[in-house]
Amino acid sequence: MDQLDSLYHVHIAELNRRVAEVTRRENFAGVVIHSGQPHRQFLDDMNYPFKVNPHFKAWLPILDNPNCWIIANGVDKPILVFYRPVDFWHKVSDVPDAFWTAHFDIKLLTKADKIAEFLPKDLSNWAYIGEHLDVADVLEFKSRNPDAVMNYLHYHRADKTQYELECLRRANKIAVRGHKAAKSAFFNGGSEFEIQQHYLAEISQGENEMPYGNIIALNQNAAILHYMTLAHVKPKQRLSFLIDAGASYHGYAADITRTYAFEKNRFSELIAALNLQQLAIVDAMKPGVKYTDLHIMTHERIAQLLIDFELAHSDVAALVDSGVTRAFFPHGLGHMLGLQVHDMGGYSHDERGTHIPAPENHPFLRCTRTLAANQVLTIEPGIYIIDTLLNDLSDNAKQLVNWQTVDVMRPFGGIRIEDNVIVHSDRNENMTRELGLD
Ligand code: GLY
Ligand code: MN
Ligand code: MN
Repeated sequence: MDQLDSLYHVHIAELNRRVAEVTRRENFAGVVIHSGQPHRQFLDDMNYPFKVNPHFKAWLPILDNPNCWIIANGVDKPILVFYRPVDFWHKVSDVPDAFWTAHFDIKLLTKADKIAEFLPKDLSNWAYIGEHLDVADVLEFKSRNPDAVMNYLHYHRADKTQYELECLRRANKIAVRGHKAAKSAFFNGGSEFEIQQHYLAEISQGENEMPYGNIIALNQNAAILHYMTLAHVKPKQRLSFLIDAGASYHGYAADITRTYAFEKNRFSELIAALNLQQLAIVDAMKPGVKYTDLHIMTHERIAQLLIDFELAHSDVAALVDSGVTRAFFPHGLGHMLGLQVHDMGGYSHDERGTHIPAPENHPFLRCTRTLAANQVLTIEPGIYIIDTLLNDLSDNAKQLVNWQTVDVMRPFGGIRIEDNVIVHSDRNENMTRELGLD
């Protein structure tokens, strides 16, 4: 028996417990979770790739079937209404038979618009959870994604079950394989497009199965934070390679970044130095620590690196206060990871959804939570040469930058190092490293 089978028992018991608790508190009869509907492309007869409602895939790993529904009150066995049309144009999903099926009362739906026949007769006190509010209206739900229920579920999303932790480990294990293949492809002279093909072939996942679009950036493209182009042309000179690429397992995401220098030089030394800092930041994670404090601490460490590598001068405090570190490291330290790459709940302070915003100077920080055991987060510091940000610095801050070193580093683009970490009560589990990626 796969270890997941036994872990899943506890997982679904916990989801049922959460639904029982929140529906009792909020006086709902239960929740009805919609997997979603296909989205049609404008003026076309084709749909966009289907992306399932994360609240749906929290319950079971069906990722590719729209028009499915879960009906749960937390007490009775949940019902899965599984869409199985008569259709000779498209693949029809098989009737499920997996480690999770015994935990559901499964009913087959052959016509999407006949769902009302499967739902409770009076839906007025059931909460609809899904994207299609118009469908919920037609079905006469009075509560659609009610805040109290969503806040509760999103807050608890951060507290991963053992089943979820194992899925996240497996996603990491797959992505680590892909990263090793991509690294070889880089050193063997591949274009960005070719490196992507090596990555996907190694992990045997298609682009639409991946949790996000891979960033595969050679040379100066590494400075473009969301670089999604996959250039076919090989650069004349091979300097650097940044790869931010993940993988999925049962709907759970890996999100890993590595940066490589083609040769030993000042840039490769900067990668090694940032790598040490990244590991030190991971070491600073533990229950009770505020993620925002880790982010602020990262700015201080990056300031020191800028000084050590003569990208800037003055002292740590001046580089942080003047905004110089934000020009070199403009994004957040990381985020919660799980069913979504940027998992819900990163700003939730409590079950009621009390929102702790990112600090004013750090608007791109995606997590302000206090760490606790069983949370999973990325730690992804970076240093980039982004001319638009450097040029935007105040005149005083510009004086602190060593522009000659900036000129030397610019063609290499930038560095990001991103690991996926489970916080346990007594240690951190850096999945990415423990599964073999240096
Ligand atoms: N790959 C998206 C991120 O690192 O947040
Ligand atoms: Mn990433
Ligand atoms: Mn990330």
